[in-house]
Amino acid sequence: MQIQGQSALVTGGASGLGEATARALARLGARVAVLDRNAEQAARVAADIGGVACACDITDAASVAAALEQAAVAHGPARILMNVAGIGSAKRIVQRDGSAAPLEDFARVVNINLIGTYNVSRLFAAACSRLEALDNGERGVMLFTASVAAFDGQVGQQAYSASKAGLAGMTLPMARDLAQHAIRVCTIAPGLFATPLMQELPEAVQQSLAASIPFPPRLGRPEEFAELACHIVTNGHLNGEVIRLDGALRMAPR
Ligand SMILES: NC(=O)c1ccc[n+]([C@@H]2O[C@H](COP(=O)([O-])OP(=O)(O)OC[C@H]3O[C@@H](n4cnc5c(N)ncnc54)[C@H](O)[C@@H]3O)[C@@H](O)[C@H]2O)c1
Repeated sequence: MQIQGQSALVTGGASGLGEATARALARLGARVAVLDRNAEQAARVAADIGGVACACDITDAASVAAALEQAAVAHGPARILMNVAGIGSAKRIVQRDGSAAPLEDFARVVNINLIGTYNVSRLFAAACSRLEALDNGERGVMLFTASVAAFDGQVGQQAYSASKAGLAGMTLPMARDLAQHAIRVCTIAPGLFATPLMQELPEAVQQSLAASIPFPPRLGRPEEFAELACHIVTNGHLNGEVIRLDGALRMAPR
């Protein structure tokens, strides 16, 4: 699908990989709605790219429905959905004091990363399925953002890995389900990227993480993620696939 002139939604568009994706889509001529629970940052990015900020919580059905409606009024119905919003977490299942990890922590991460992504996707897919097909037969395309932790999660990453493996596992059935509506679905599983999340770590830790990447031995740039996200939109034969973007990184146990 050509990006020029399309209406696009980017969750997590206020920061990091989502922000880079929103900026790239806008540069390529899309009208971009920045969906994020951080209203202030979303407004900053939207103002920069001539888009619209739609503050919402991806885990909340009514909040997302309102954001999609706001985006559609501003830009017309969306044919591109980039699900990038997510949170990290690390918690050992048996804690230092011998107690069990709190169940709420696991549920919170799965609720945002997996169920929140499904929530936005189902509302987008229903609306997109009602649109006329484009000249090439396509109606829409959506992206999930997993992580290499879906496959090689580290100590303490049970919740995060489970949520991201859920996205990887959902990719093919979602693509098969939406094939009848001509909507494609792909997932990117990023390795280690230089986003605000990562940049909060001490410089020495960032360097040692970067050195663990075979090639290139540096953190990924958010623009490199955005480039692949946009390629998924334009390459009509990419569907139902999970693509690692990680410089050949395979995470060690810790
Ligand atoms: N940075 C990395 O190295 C890396 C690696 C692998 C996967 N990822 C994944 O990429 C995605 C983006 O990561 P990032 O590093 O850019 O993080 P980030 O913290 O910079 O950005 C995440 C954005 O998501 C938003 N968000 C979080 N929960 C939300 C909710 N419930 N509703 C609406 N918005 C919400 C935040 O407000 C924030 O703007 C995440 O899903 C993350 O798990 C990142």
